[in-house]
Amino acid sequence: MTEKIKILLGVTGGIAAYKSAEIARLLIKNDYLVKVVMTRTAEDFITPLTFETLTNDQVYKYNTAIKDQPMLHIDLARWADLILVAPTTAEFLSKICHGRADDILTTTCLAFDKKIVLAPSMNKNMWENKATQENYQNLKKRGILFSGPEFGSQACGDIGSGRMKEPENILDDINQLTKKSTKLFKDKKILITAGPTIENIDPVRYLSNRSSGMMGCEIANAFYEQGANVLLVKGPCNYRQKEEIQSIEVKSAKDMLFSVEDNIEGCDIFVSVAAVSDFTVKDLSENKIKSEKNFKLELTKNIDILKTISKKYNNIFTIGFAAETSELKYNAVKKLKDKKISVIAANKVSFSEGIDNKSNSITLYWGDGLEKILKLKDKRDLAIEFVEEISNIYN
Ligand SMILES: Cc1cc2nc3c(=O)[nH]c(=O)nc-3n(C[C@H](O)[C@H](O)[C@H](O)COP(=O)(O)O)c2cc1C
Repeated sequence: MTEKIKILLGVTGGIAAYKSAEIARLLIKNDYLVKVVMTRTAEDFITPLTFETLTNDQVYKYNTAIKDQPMLHIDLARWADLILVAPTTAEFLSKICHGRADDILTTTCLAFDKKIVLAPSMNKNMWENKATQENYQNLKKRGILFSGPEFGSQACGDIGSGRMKEPENILDDINQLTKKSTKLFKDKKILITAGPTIENIDPVRYLSNRSSGMMGCEIANAFYEQGANVLLVKGPCNYRQKEEIQSIEVKSAKDMLFSVEDNIEGCDIFVSVAAVSDFTVKDLSENKIKSEKNFKLELTKNIDILKTISKKYNNIFTIGFAAETSELKYNAVKKLKDKKISVIAANKVSFSEGIDNKSNSITLYWGDGLEKILKLKDKRDLAIEFVEEISNIYN
């Protein structure tokens, strides 16, 4: 087993300090060992208790009693593989540039000879101030690394540079620096269905729906990018998944169920994105139905792939999709319960949204009344967000 990378997270007294809790959470979730050091002012913005709870460890405050550990700054500097200070105030930037050592965080930084990453966060005028810019340039020359800041809207209402990078983007920078990848579904076996199914009426006609297969293929791509071993069972559609993803092409709901059952053994997750035909033709005509006169087509309820799988394989994490034209929540939660699945992803459909469109929005429902809205966006981006959210629910 490889040893965990140890990160000392410094929190200083800026308005973005509340985001440090999310940074600590993300670091821990990504398998880093985290200890937190706070400045005195940081405690005006967020309580040490928040970090103590997240890290399940003591937080080192500016006035941490040192009688048991007189060389605390040296011990912390030896312990950490990397120091991340997020947010970094203008004050802290200045202190670190001038070699100040008047609290536990600055003293530890001075005693530290490995990588220090600063995530500045301040008003645009503070950031653009010559003093701050000189400190910033000096620190860069000395090998101090920076994650941000970014241009954007600020807590004070200004728009400009100085905004702290979002926690997930800071995490990406840390991962890149430590060469640690964030594969959320590494080696997980995932079976996904996509596209429509077709039900034959006679040798030339069939019943189907408008599913393009895009959502299912993009979800397969997103799981694959997160390290999963993906198998895609696809109904007839033109949308293509990444070449590296293994797929099986099927036509009817029955074929799809057979394919799923043949391959489900050993899977960790089953994602049913396919728009499976809810009805099938009662009496399949062996001959082409003559066009001279009207005829009545009788339909019967089709097999329910998702329900069958969740019932038979209750150790598999099952995710279903529900396209609804009305009463989204009511219908989705009903399906979640009736089919006894782990998560349901519901989306509103009409002639202009959801199915056969390039963008979509989804609401996830799971557990006892939990829900999360994934806002309208391009289906590729939505699939990436979907997979990240599923990782939160699954873990
Ligand atoms: C409400 C409030 C918000 C502040 N936000 C910021 C900020 O976002 N960035 C910054 O550099 N300073 C900010 N400051 C100023 C710092 O808190 C101040 O410079 C403090 O001395 C920083 O101490 P520290 O870096 O040791 O934590 C803010 C002050 C107040 C009162």
